[in-house]
Amino acid sequence: MASTTLELSDATSGRPVRLSPTGTVIYEVALNGWRILRETVNDFSLWRIIEYPWATAALELRRGDLVVDLGSGTSSFPHMLAKEGVDVVVLELDAERVRWQLAKRRATARPGDGRFFPLVASATHMPLRSGSVRRVAAVSSLEHIPDDAAVGAEIGRVLASGGIAAVTLPFTSTERTGFFEGIRKFVRVERNAFVQEGKAGSFFRFYTAADLERIYGRGVGLVMSELRGFGRSILNGRYHETRLTRYWRRFVLKDLLLALLVHPLEERFDRSDPLYVMFTLRKP
Ligand SMILES: C[S@@+](CC[C@H](N)C(=O)[O-])C[C@H]1O[C@@H](n2cnc3c(N)ncnc32)[C@H](O)[C@@H]1O
Repeated sequence: MASTTLELSDATSGRPVRLSPTGTVIYEVALNGWRILRETVNDFSLWRIIEYPWATAALELRRGDLVVDLGSGTSSFPHMLAKEGVDVVVLELDAERVRWQLAKRRATARPGDGRFFPLVASATHMPLRSGSVRRVAAVSSLEHIPDDAAVGAEIGRVLASGGIAAVTLPFTSTERTGFFEGIRKFVRVERNAFVQEGKAGSFFRFYTAADLERIYGRGVGLVMSELRGFGRSILNGRYHETRLTRYWRRFVLKDLLLALLVHPLEERFDRSDPLYVMFTLRKP
């Protein structure tokens, strides 16, 4: 768990890596046991079943590639990638979560897996050489970091020319004045930014398209593309931001069905704001 500058090398040119929604659930069970179908032990849920396959495809991953995963938390995504032969840097601020990741890795590692580099560090000051990284993933993590301008600048700095970042972030087309109203108490602290009352470290920011370009796109010399949404009137409006959210972390197979059946229909026919967007950033 060193925090000195990490030298990274990217072997690449292996076979392409694909992750399906069903594949994420199978991996989740293999990594954390059957009980996660009843009650997840981490943030694995409907959104992750949508995000992990998308991020894997968006990064155009092959066996032997190296991904820097920002704000991994206790997510299984780094392990799913390692099982597919991808090398992963888990870059996470919370040392306890990095220890959890390392213990999980030691318990589940098999010959042929990708390598695993745990790193206690902040995405606002990455101990990585400028231009040294070809692939960055940030799945539902950067919205929790107040100094987002520093994160955007760091992603722009560490990416190599031609490198890609796959990012998912909360979205709004107008100013959001509330969040999870009637379920939890989130207090507005800045335009489109909230903290949960009484919960330290619960900072949560929504982004407009202009904010995304300024903080993560053109503003830091990166080209944003492949913007997609998820969580519109049914998956968010009738489910997630309602009292049904108490079932959010339970019965993961319902989430698989929602991801396979409802999510594609929403993206095809529903033009309301998504709760989250997924997009890539490329360094020219
Ligand atoms: C919602 S969780 C992570 C979700 C995870 N990526 C997944 O796929 O489920 C957000 C994580 O970001 C981490 N975090 C917060 N600030 C950070 C920072 N400045 N640098 C790196 N990680 C940070 C938190 O400790 C937390 O583990």
